[in-house]
Amino acid sequence: MAKKILVTGGTGYIGSHTVVELQQSGCEVLIIDNLSNSNAEVIEGVKRITGIRPVFEKFDLTDMDSLKAFFNKHEGIDGIIHFAASKAVGESVQKPLLYYRNNIVSLLNLLELMPVHGVKGIVFSSSCTVYGEPDSNPIDENAPIKLATSPYGNTKQINEEIIQDFIHSGANIKSIILRYFNPIGAHSSAEIGELPLGVPQNLVPYVTQTGMGIRKQLSVFGDDYNTPDGSCIRDYINVVDLAKAHVIAIKRMLGGKSKQNVEIFNLGTGNGVSVLELVRVFEKVSGKPLNHKIVGRREGDIEKIWANPDRANSVLGWKAQETLEDTVASAWKWQQRLREKGIM
Ligand code: UFG
Repeated sequence: MAKKILVTGGTGYIGSHTVVELQQSGCEVLIIDNLSNSNAEVIEGVKRITGIRPVFEKFDLTDMDSLKAFFNKHEGIDGIIHFAASKAVGESVQKPLLYYRNNIVSLLNLLELMPVHGVKGIVFSSSCTVYGEPDSNPIDENAPIKLATSPYGNTKQINEEIIQDFIHSGANIKSIILRYFNPIGAHSSAEIGELPLGVPQNLVPYVTQTGMGIRKQLSVFGDDYNTPDGSCIRDYINVVDLAKAHVIAIKRMLGGKSKQNVEIFNLGTGNGVSVLELVRVFEKVSGKPLNHKIVGRREGDIEKIWANPDRANSVLGWKAQETLEDTVASAWKWQQRLREKGIM
């Protein structure tokens, strides 16, 4: 029978791409999202791609009464993919309690209700931020967890521990923790993509908005790092590749194939790319120069980090497929679609 999967944060950037891949793999999908950082129109984009409208309920996961009512109404949920979280690093420094409440209470509420309703497993959306500044690259899952540099990063670490402690206590659930590197790009149909509210904090939306003339100039934060061209290095992973890893992970977990009750995987390409290299890739795919200037370092930035994805490659049988060029081109196509629709 088709698996019934709850996707929290399913109208968000990674969530929406995962909903599409889940539906296309035959799963029945239900979404909970409070729309604090996304738009219900995303559901229409999903429907245009897959032909299926997922069940969608708008409420906040910190609201336990609403969550209980949801599980009572929708029986037989097999598994959860938990994306819903506040995710702006800078904002988390300004509003730590908001981040701790949103990100931690949401997970606690879900975990508490899972055994009650027979939900067998949870895939958790974590981040390479848990590694801090790595001692060496590429970085694998056994690398030490470093002191978090922001409340946002701390919520990812704490949530990983909460899941492990709960399962260690004997809770009858399983979990797969996925540590993402830097997700970028959009669905090839350009029906869904990243839609940051206000001024983008992340590199690729800032680049595509600058290419579109919405922003005047990209600031490259530092060219004096200990890297070949002096700019920071990241592992940019295609969002659809990332979404596909979630489908594999949840099917593995629900199919009883997990080797341990909690498994952890890095999701990256294994390639480090500098900010200036990414700018050049954008210039190539868009066919025009990108207005950019070098400015000072951004506080808290990691100098260089990229994944060793061997465990995901061999154990999950998942590998990032898309090239960086195609991925940046998909982000540019999405930006152009937003212009055609008059959204931006
Ligand atoms: N950058 C610029 N100019 C910009 C924006 C970014 O030069 O306008 C640079 C940054 O300095 C960094 C690189 O582009 O070197 C990538 O920056 P992002 O903000 O896109 O991504 P980060 O790697 O800083 O952050 C991401 C996620 C966080 C997560 C973090 C973990 O967005 O949620 O990885 O390291 F916590």
